[in-house]
Amino acid sequence: MKKIVLLSLLAAGSLFAQVKGDIEVPYISYEIKMGKGFDAVQANCLMCHSFGYIINQGPQSKEFWRKKVDKMIVHFKAPIPEEDAKIVTEYLYKHYGNGKLK
Ligand code: HEC
Repeated sequence: MKKIVLLSLLAAGSLFAQVKGDIEVPYISYEIKMGKGFDAVQANCLMCHSFGYIINQGPQSKEFWRKKVDKMIVHFKAPIPEEDAKIVTEYLYKHYGNGKLK
């Protein structure tokens, strides 16, 4: 019963929410760097999620990127051939790497 009262209070509360003026929705842009290997990213990674997932990680080591690719293959069953996994890792390290191998 308490839950129902609480829920109806919450629901009613939103009826009184008012906004004055225009709302500006933030536009977040991110740059996709083109280059050798991007084809492989497009073919193997972007079928499941956006590029944002990838670059939100920030600059990372080569090992980090390789492990992410492996995680996609092992945990999420991404059908990525080893050849492409290597190309994607190289691409990510080149454009979104931190200069460290490990
Ligand atoms: C079969 C689907 C699938 C494919 C293909 C795929 N991913 Fe993912 N990826 C996921 C899922 C599911 C998540 C986790 C989403 C969540 O946690 O909300 C994820 C999350 C991520 C993350 C966020 C960090 C993390 O560890 O969760 C990164 C980085 C990432 N993927 C990189 C890649 C890269 C690089 C490729 C291509 C080599 C790729 N993904 C291909 C399904 C996929």
